Amino acid sequence: MLRKAFKQFQLGVKNPGQGMRILASEAKMRAGIRTLRSLELAVTWICNLDCEFCYAEDLMKAQKKPPHMPVEEVADITRQARDLGLIHVNVTGGEPLVRKDIFEVVDAIPKDVVVSLVTNSTLLTKEKIVRLKQAGLSTIQMSYGGYYLKSFQRDLARYCVEQGISVTLSVVNIKAERPNIEHAFAMAEEDDFSVLFNYPMIYKNEGVDSEYYWKMRYHPRCREDNLFWSGKDRCPAGTHKLYVTNDGDVMTCDRIHAIYGNVRTEPLAGIHKRMYEQFIKHKSFCLLETCEKQWDENNKRSGRNYSKTLLGTREDPFNVFEGTPLMHGSVAGSTMAQEIHAARKRASEGGANGHDAQGHDASGDGRPVDVPVSEEAPTKR
Ligand SMILES: C[S@@+](CC[C@H](N)C(=O)[O-])C[C@H]1O[C@@H](n2cnc3c(N)ncnc32)[C@H](O)[C@@H]1O
Ligand code: SF4
Repeated sequence: MLRKAFKQFQLGVKNPGQGMRILASEAKMRAGIRTLRSLELAVTWICNLDCEFCYAEDLMKAQKKPPHMPVEEVADITRQARDLGLIHVNVTGGEPLVRKDIFEVVDAIPKDVVVSLVTNSTLLTKEKIVRLKQAGLSTIQMSYGGYYLKSFQRDLARYCVEQGISVTLSVVNIKAERPNIEHAFAMAEEDDFSVLFNYPMIYKNEGVDSEYYWKMRYHPRCREDNLFWSGKDRCPAGTHKLYVTNDGDVMTCDRIHAIYGNVRTEPLAGIHKRMYEQFIKHKSFCLLETCEKQWDENNKRSGRNYSKTLLGTREDPFNVFEGTPLMHGSVAGSTMAQEIHAARKRASEGGANGHDAQGHDASGDGRPVDVPVSEEAPTKR
């Protein structure tokens, strides 16, 4: 495991300043001192695909004309976060590469912070790879799996490695994806990529393929970004990792759309402190989903003996759902949040065109409605 952590350290860290910050952050975290390690920035809600499983679907559709997060705001948020200990930023969306100024976005992040960017690869070119590298990008997370088979370009992934940008194949860990994930691992071995498991935000009633996850977790090519950049062996959401939307709302994570404040009306430090104090008490491996294996571990960590019959129910003490105690303190943030909550409420009341509790279209076919139009090269399927 140590060798793996060292490899991951080498892959992400591109300068001594980053290395020093990571070591200091690790020491602070292990000493139990409040520190913010990782930020996910949804720099746009615009996307040129409409994957039916997308967890960001409700957020993307909640705004009629979603504005990009301004470059100055990226600089300001990451400067504030840096003062709180930041070592890593993941640039995401929507599709970050629909932004023509994505190079300035990456460049606005302090250089002693490791930057990754997650993309569906449709708009990636060699020229953009070179410019992203110049802007300071350390890792590119290229999404891979059933939905990305057409857009993934292995030659461009190899080109990233040649240019000194490490490549992580970002896969969704459900049983139906196993053959694709196995192929991702095979490519990773051949081309020096890594593979990152995304916990599925449940779709098509499929939960996490935990048997496979625990089998592959210690594979040398399996990258534990979440845990490496954002926390010890526990869910970092709300404590060591925060998610900021295009209009400044601060959420626990990309999949739990609970908002605890907005950076446009309050310094990040205050929001982080509130969230940290709430979530540090919670010691589960993932706030989103518990599998049987984690249940025992979660019980051990929390010093409790909850019955397994609660697993996956609304009373599940280790997961976060609307209305459960961990959601206390979340506020109605921007209009976007209010619209999301209104849409969910409509759905739970059986209203037409609402979204279910997982943010999916409640109309039955699971397809997104009213998807925003891309600024560049739309490749909708
Ligand atoms: C929301 S996307 C944004 C970046 C970019 N548009 C892309 O697709 O790579 C970020 C990552 O989340 C993953 N993802 C989307 N919906 C998911 C879900 N329901 N469960 C797990 N992962 C999901 C995607 O596959 C992608 O790797
Ligand atoms: S490419 Fe797919 S997963 Fe990524 S933001 Fe767009 S719709 Fe969501």
